[in-house]
Amino acid sequence: MPEIRRMEESDLDEVAAIERASFPLPWSRNLFLRDLKENKIAFFLAVRDRGELVAYGGFWLLQEEINIVNVAVHPDHRKKGFGRLVLDALLKEGQKQGATIATLEVRESNKAARTLYERLGFIQIAIRKKYYSDNREDALVMWLNPIPNMKELN
Ligand SMILES: CC(C)(COP(=O)(O)OP(=O)(O)OC[C@H]1O[C@@H](n2cnc3c(N)ncnc32)[C@H](O)[C@@H]1OP(=O)(O)O)[C@@H](O)C(=O)NCCC(=O)NCCS
Repeated sequence: MPEIRRMEESDLDEVAAIERASFPLPWSRNLFLRDLKENKIAFFLAVRDRGELVAYGGFWLLQEEINIVNVAVHPDHRKKGFGRLVLDALLKEGQKQGATIATLEVRESNKAARTLYERLGFIQIAIRKKYYSDNREDALVMWLNPIPNMKELN
């Protein structure tokens, strides 16, 4: 069984490696560290399977909204349900912390992530034109409003 818990500093070398393998504009180890140590509204989870860090994700809590700022799965462990596991856990935790809405941004071309979010009930509510600085790709803003009762889902 995979183990899911709050991200810790000791996870960050593996997190940063997955981050570099997953995104054209990866977050640095330091950016994660700052969120873990100093950002009171940030919450990050990490998933280990047989000891290996396979997935992680996090949100910032903005009153009744969680903004999911990061989700990634190790390239060798995709399509095994870890992305879904992280999202479910983030939504459940967000609800516990008082959120009723979840928002996120996703690259227009990111079919895998868009499908995952749509499966969970997220819908597109806006487009941020030329949002990503590397290729000037548009970002789709999606939300899940309201976050369904996660206890009933699992
Ligand atoms: C997007 C990502 C997190 C999905 O994680 P994952 O563990 O592979 O996803 P899961 O196995 O939990 O799949 C859940 C659902 O997502 C969809 N999905 C996942 N990968 C997909 C793909 N390559 N193509 C189409 N749909 C896909 C499927 O609908 C799947 O449900 P199903 O298996 O019942 O059909 C992963 O591909 C990833 O880390 N990508 C790089 C980082 C990234 O883009 N993060 C999101 C930034 S907004």
